[in-house]
Amino acid sequence: MNVYSGKIEVTDDPLVLGTEPIPARYYYDPEWYELERKAIWMRSWLNIGHVCELPEPGSFIRREIEFAGASLLIVRGKDGELRALHNACTHRGTQLVEEASGKRSTFSCPYHMWTFGTDGALLSAPDFERFATTREDCALKQVSIDTCGGLIFIAFEPQQGLREYLGPMADKLDRLAVAQATTFHEYVYEIDANWKLTYDNFQENYHLRFVHPRTAGPGIGGANPFGYPSSFSLCGKHRTQTIWVNPEGTFPPALMLPMTKMMPRLAADGLMDLPYARDYFALFPNFFLLCTPGNHFLHYVMPISAGKSRGVIRLYWKGEDETAGVRYAREATMATTRDIHSEDVNIIERGQRGLASGALEHIHFQEKEILCRHLIKVVEETVEAYRAETAG
Ligand code: FES
Ligand SMILES: [Fe+2]
Repeated sequence: MNVYSGKIEVTDDPLVLGTEPIPARYYYDPEWYELERKAIWMRSWLNIGHVCELPEPGSFIRREIEFAGASLLIVRGKDGELRALHNACTHRGTQLVEEASGKRSTFSCPYHMWTFGTDGALLSAPDFERFATTREDCALKQVSIDTCGGLIFIAFEPQQGLREYLGPMADKLDRLAVAQATTFHEYVYEIDANWKLTYDNFQENYHLRFVHPRTAGPGIGGANPFGYPSSFSLCGKHRTQTIWVNPEGTFPPALMLPMTKMMPRLAADGLMDLPYARDYFALFPNFFLLCTPGNHFLHYVMPISAGKSRGVIRLYWKGEDETAGVRYAREATMATTRDIHSEDVNIIERGQRGLASGALEHIHFQEKEILCRHLIKVVEETVEAYRAETAG
């Protein structure tokens, strides 16, 4: 069955992907990771930031992309355009920028002072006449960049444009409140676990009642003791689900107070993300956005190696912290998010250690873990297509 090339566009049949166990080696085998790296990571569009980080000409952010061995400068040029420039001087490769973000009118290399514009053009180089090359040839190298719904995506070897890659998810992203965000809270973590094991933890609710008994709140209980989603859909490579909320459930006080502070503000800003208020949008391979009435929660997981990953969690907001109440609410929401997440990290790393022991040939997904199964199916098919294309 071909999941992503159009044969299944949208479905909510829980058994459409079958019931087979999943090879455990996908989670630790360096050879399999190398195939994923070439077939998926180098070719996919990946979210690495938001346009609110680059408000003015010359604004830049630096991103280290381990799977590509690359350091990228995402820069808003003097012409207003966004570009993704390799952070590598074209003279002898020296990295131009060490800061994580900032604003500059030019980028000068500390080694021999070659100087580049915000569009990557080589503006000046001392004694350049003595080189047997041209300025045009010495512009900074670029990778593909585009935006959707305010989110910045890059791709090293894209096989199609961003909107085509996102398919029906592109229009959805455009309509979400994150498109209007002006600021965010961020939490970056490294984890000793494969990217899929890390990401899958956030695609299933089966663990909520065991790992988050204090904090899962109204997401579990009553008629739905595991808090399974009320619906899901598979959209090509991507997927969505709608979070179930127990009508009789109550939020823990630590969550309730910031939520009651935030909700009038979000409603006034038109940021409630209704009718998407309980929708979860997952983009292949590593991104999801959870729209809740209280905040806009985004998480992506980048691989560092087969058994190590980096996650970036962001809560996006519109407007500054105008009152102490808003400030408190945002900080408290982020603190609670970190609290819940710390409960996940330990259990995910324990999973990785068990898998990496090689004791298991297979792992299993039940039918309510279909989003995890779908990710694996798309991974398998993308790797198989790459193998077929590069064979011989
Ligand atoms: S390496 Fe950058 S100017 Fe020489
Ligand atoms: Fe969790």
